Amino acid sequence: MPVVDREFVTALPKAELHLHIEGTLEPELKLELARRNGVDIEQDTVEDVRATYDFTDLTSFLAVYYPAMEVLVTEQDFHDLALAYLERAAADGVVRAEIFFDPQAHTSRGVPFSIVVDGLWSAVQEAPSLGVDAALIMCFLRDMSAESARETLEASLPYRDRIVGVGLDSDERGNPPEKFAAVFAAAKEAGYRLTMHCDVDQDDAIGHIATVMDEIGVERIDHGSNILEDPALVAEAKQRGIGFTCCPLSNSFVTEQMKGAEITELLRSGLKVSIASDDPSYFGGYVADNILALAEAQQLTREEVVTLARNSLEISWAGDEATQGWLRRLDEVAAQG
Ligand code: ADE
Ligand code: ZN
Repeated sequence: MPVVDREFVTALPKAELHLHIEGTLEPELKLELARRNGVDIEQDTVEDVRATYDFTDLTSFLAVYYPAMEVLVTEQDFHDLALAYLERAAADGVVRAEIFFDPQAHTSRGVPFSIVVDGLWSAVQEAPSLGVDAALIMCFLRDMSAESARETLEASLPYRDRIVGVGLDSDERGNPPEKFAAVFAAAKEAGYRLTMHCDVDQDDAIGHIATVMDEIGVERIDHGSNILEDPALVAEAKQRGIGFTCCPLSNSFVTEQMKGAEITELLRSGLKVSIASDDPSYFGGYVADNILALAEAQQLTREEVVTLARNSLEISWAGDEATQGWLRRLDEVAAQG
């Protein structure tokens, strides 16, 4: 018997902190954008699109993920993509969404940086009308060069006030965090908050986690559950209040399981673990689906589910005033029946 139901999970105010906007491209919207832009994607139905969702690890996922983006061309496309996500997020009780975007996946296809940011930003500005406070986090693609990341950082500076932080994503194999140490130092200097992916079960995952904590100085780690391999790092992350954004349904697609036991152990060790959906249109669920899947698989208590939501708000980059308001609402929901 699940200890929490969807109604309760939805009612909890929560922040979604690990969400790639390109990974919210649902098949229906993909087909609509392909038609709108005259892009031949060789797929005519939702079933055709879903038939391409054939992946077993991060690399094979990314091989499907990047080509799908070719339907995103205009400012309106990026706006529509982000607004569709924000509507789904609002329905799941998300009060704060910190949205990853991958400028290089678009500029490398000839779509200007300004088109991407202007489109996403117009949706971010509409988010409060849905009851969501939204922000953008720019990710560098780690399988591209450090020079390309540096150019992307430069391109972002005129938009500095629209982007709260920077992250690092894409294929981790052979692309350790230290490759981007100088770019992240420059981003920090420019006032950006820092997070980085440490994907699950990568080669030298624990070495990457040590580097992002001790050399790069991130505030959050995206995924990061391999930290359990080193109890001293777990203790350090706890002491420093480092945030973790774990994505159970995503894990079950790119590894053999959702890593529910590991996520739960981190949570019970007192780490600031939050739950998010990563690329929900590919991995079968939005944030409430992820929380429910984990709660059911691990028989989390009601209090633990509340802690996941509380952690997400506490490690968000929304600022104290907004966060305190959401935490008060969280306590009210938690106190009811
Ligand atoms: N880009 C989109 N989703 C990703 C993930 N889970 N890991 C790395 N890069 C990504
Ligand atoms: Zn991710």
